[in-house]
Amino acid sequence: MIVHEDRIEALVQAAVEARLRAYAPYSRFQVGAAILDCQGQIFTGCNVENASYSLCLCAERTAGGHAVASGSKNWLAIAIATAGGVAPCGACRQFLVEFGSDLEVISVAIDQAKRRRWKLKELLPDRFDQQNLPLS
Ligand code: THU
Repeated sequence: MIVHEDRIEALVQAAVEARLRAYAPYSRFQVGAAILDCQGQIFTGCNVENASYSLCLCAERTAGGHAVASGSKNWLAIAIATAGGVAPCGACRQFLVEFGSDLEVISVAIDQAKRRRWKLKELLPDRFDQQNLPLS
């Protein structure tokens, strides 16, 4: 499905705003994410850290949980906003691929005019997903 560029700008803006809600007292690295679904809806998330460090949640996964809990599972794109611009961590790549490897991933640097874009399948070329399980 084609992702319209005007929605991409709204998606990027939503990720930038979501970053301001990050709870990151330990790393002080704030991350915002926003998912665009095929109905044009946008769901945001931010990283949520914990004094027990291994419990920290990435922004991509809180956005994904927000979308699923709102009834949305068909996603077109995710924007991730940070200082410097990052690619999603390996755990988030695996989390996101559950909902489709055609996902457009957009990395946004809030402090530079730098954006990078990939298909999720480029970031996770040899993946383990539901097709590997004898479910159907
Ligand atoms: N983090 C994300 O939220 N998304 C990423 O793609 C990379 C890392 C968070 C986790 C942790 O709260 C902080 O950034 C530093 O790793």
